[in-house]
Amino acid sequence: MAGLKEEINLDNLPKHIAVIMDGNGRWAKMKGKLRTFGHESGVKAVRETVETCAELGVSYLTLYAFSTENWNRPKFEINALMSLLVSTIASETKTLMKNNIRLQTIGDTLTLPSKCQRELKEAIDATAGNTRMTLVLALSYSSRWEITKAMKNMASDIQSGALKEEEITESKISQYLDTSGMPDPELLIRTSGEHRISNFLLWQISYAELFFTDVLWPDFRKEHLYEAILSYQGRERRFGKTSEQISA
Ligand code: FPP
Repeated sequence: MAGLKEEINLDNLPKHIAVIMDGNGRWAKMKGKLRTFGHESGVKAVRETVETCAELGVSYLTLYAFSTENWNRPKFEINALMSLLVSTIASETKTLMKNNIRLQTIGDTLTLPSKCQRELKEAIDATAGNTRMTLVLALSYSSRWEITKAMKNMASDIQSGALKEEEITESKISQYLDTSGMPDPELLIRTSGEHRISNFLLWQISYAELFFTDVLWPDFRKEHLYEAILSYQGRERRFGKTSEQISA
């Protein structure tokens, strides 16, 4: 796969890449290890993906780190994931600063353990002024949760008079989502051979190109990311128009 990077057209990069990091558990199981070892090993892939996106010039990278549904996993695994999150954020904030990367989150972060919330707030505050790329961690996130919350907030703004029915447009709805102010992802990557969206950014990925790979998340490296971006660049994005209209 050598030389893939040189094939990428830097003038046609997706501004926002979203990733469903999947396959940590299966990766560990194949090695006869605990699932939590798979998550620990996934951190290397997170680091490499973040660095590579920043190097290329991608503006937003959103990683699905913990879904609302993941709270149903065994307590042991949830605790291990939360500790991993705390330790990774603590140890990586320096790298985020060095690389001028801003950290943000989407999701119901108030449900995270308080230590996790504190660590996140510190890193978000410390990196708030960084401008090269925004790394968004989806934590305790699900799209239906996000849309439900947006609906409730809109209803309450309508009731108070802060929002009028005629002001409800697609862009207004986007403003009520956790991703308010972010461009919609143009490329969604899912690892591990599963072809599902799993309640991730349902509104925002309306026009995203989907890229599925069999690679398990802990094995995901920059070459795999290049491959996904090249696949994206090789597609014709028609947004409902005809091919002829696009080339005209
Ligand atoms: C999916 O694999 C992965 C997760 C639910 C967690 C992802 C977390 C990390 C990669 C580590 C920490 C992340 C950050 C941002 C510091 P799975 O457990 O569903 O795998 P399986 O489908 O093989 O069981």
